Parts: sequence; C-alpha cells; structure tokens
Amino acid sequence: MSPRLNSSSDPDATTGSWIIRGILAGAAVAGACALVTLRRSVKLRSQVVGIIPARFASSRFEGKPLVPLLGKPMIQRTWERAKLATTLDQLVVATDDEKIAECCRGFGADVIMTSESCRNGTERCNEALKKLRKNFDIVVNIQGDEPLIEPEIIDGVVKALQAAPDAVFSTAVTSLKPEDASDPNRVKCIVDNRGYAIYFSRGLIPYNKSGKVNPHFPYFLHLGIQSYDAQFLRIYPELSPTPLQLEEDLEQLKVLENGYKMKVIKVDHDAHGVDTPEDVEKIEALMRAQNLS
Ligand SMILES: *[C@@H]1O[C@H](CO)[C@@H](O)[C@H](O)[C@H]1NC(C)=O
Ligand SMILES: *[C@@H]1O[C@H](CO)[C@@H](O)[C@H](O)[C@H]1NC(C)=O
Repeated sequence: MSPRLNSSSDPDATTGSWIIRGILAGAAVAGACALVTLRRSVKLRSQVVGIIPARFASSRFEGKPLVPLLGKPMIQRTWERAKLATTLDQLVVATDDEKIAECCRGFGADVIMTSESCRNGTERCNEALKKLRKNFDIVVNIQGDEPLIEPEIIDGVVKALQAAPDAVFSTAVTSLKPEDASDPNRVKCIVDNRGYAIYFSRGLIPYNKSGKVNPHFPYFLHLGIQSYDAQFLRIYPELSPTPLQLEEDLEQLKVLENGYKMKVIKVDHDAHGVDTPEDVEKIEALMRAQNLS
C-alpha cells in the first residue's frame, strides 16, 4: 500500500472535527514536514499492523476477552470495529490462550500465538511483531477490552505517527470528566502546542493555583490506544524502568523520560473500557442505546 501523502498532510479532511484546534495546527505543521520527508523516502512508515493483545488470565476478570456482549464475544466486537480502520494493512489477535485463538479463528481473525511469559500488552505486541512474516513500520496496540473503539481513532493515531517523523509513539486523549479529576485510575495528560506529550499523571495536571479543579480548563484523559514505530517497539520493553515511570506506575513515562517524542491526538470518545464483570452490563446498556446489536 502506498503512503497516504494527501491524508497525512491534510488531517482536516480525514479526521474531521474531533481533533482540537491546537493539535490540528500542530499536525498540519508536522504534516508539512512529513510530506518533505516522504518525498525523499517514499517508504517511510507506510506498512501498518494492528495488534489486539488478548490474554485469558486476568486478576480482575478471568476470560474477559470471551465475555459475550449482546451475544458476541468482546474480542470479536473489538476486532470488527478495528477491521473498519482504513490505515491497517493487517489486523491480528495476539494471544497465549487456545480458547481465545479458536474463537478468533472462528470469526475470521488472523491469530498469532504468543508465550504466556509476556508480562503486558506491549510485550505481547513485540513478540507478535517478531512472529509476523512481513515487515511493518507501525504497530497499533488495540486494547481488546475497548469493544466500542472507533475505527477513526485507530486511523487517527496511525496518521499522527506518519505525519510526525520525529515521534516514535502516538496515542489519544479525550476530555476529562470533572468527576474523574481525582481518580488515580484515570490518567491525565498535558501536551505542548504542537500536540506532543509533555507528561502523564495519575494526579490532576495542570494543577490550578487555587487547589481546585478549574471548570474552564480543558483537561485531557488518556485513552489506552497507542501506536509505535516498529523499530522503537523492539527496544521499548527492554528500556530500563525510569524514576517517574516507577513513581506513577505509568509505562508510557519511560518513553518521555528517555527523551523520545510522543504525538497525542484529541478525540471525542466516552471511555467504555471493560475492566470488571460489572462493566459488562453498563456497556450492553450503552450498546442498546446506540442501537448496536
Ligand atoms: C484557576 O481556576 C480558576 C477558576 O476556578 C481560574 O479563574 C483561574 O484563572 C485559574 N488559574 C489560576 C492561576 O488561578
Ligand atoms: C512490560 O513489562 C516489562 C516487565 O515487567 C517491563 O520491562 C516493561 O517496561 C513493561 N511495559 C512496556 C511498555 O514494555
């Protein structure tokens, strides 16, 4: 597949209103730079694989990927959504579990078996990447427990990375709801005026001088989706833990602490991750409300 020169240099046309203005301006600048680089090296980051890491064992929710949501396994819902992304040259499920693999083959997914020793989704993506026969330039890590992920968000993080050759990582944020401001499980993010990540925290950032949440400040909530430069993914799990990463218990800080650049896109997305069995009912109610079946 050829690099999408037009789409990466014109995010406005393809990604629509969900990128906020500031980031949009940043992307346009980066897009213009990318265009120059792409002309020199047409092969730059054109091959993209989406990987859905899925494990059976989970401390909080055993067998989570297979839980039915309105009659279809969650992993199938995620896969069907991801299939609609236009930037992926290939989409695979990476799992250590035969039941999950069988289920996925059953609905037509490509499956890569990974070892049980993978300690997290990133390691699983890394191992899957090594086992894929083709060479890829970009890997998108698509969380299997985000069954309502919009394909536009997947395409958004891919295009952001393609348009920012100086970044090795891209991810997405959405508006933080005021009630989530003090929840340490909701990770906040701040970005510079070109849309590169400055910092992620479990605490509220930025911190208003008054000590209270500023109802007028557009705080960002980090979403789980991330895409990596494939070369970077090979070294990412091997990078030693860093002080801020350890203190906040946030893997992505390791990227920033090592001086790598990360592009962030702003999207409209109500986070509907499924973490616990109780979340299943909530998401089914939402799907009914959205007329999904
Ligand atoms: C803090 O938040 C208030 C609104 O609650 C806002 O008026 C003010 O400009 C913000 N910044 C500072 C430095 O107080
Ligand atoms: C995944 O787990 C390994 C081992 O705990 C760790 O070294 C690595 O930093 C983790 N995260 C990422 C993003 O690789």
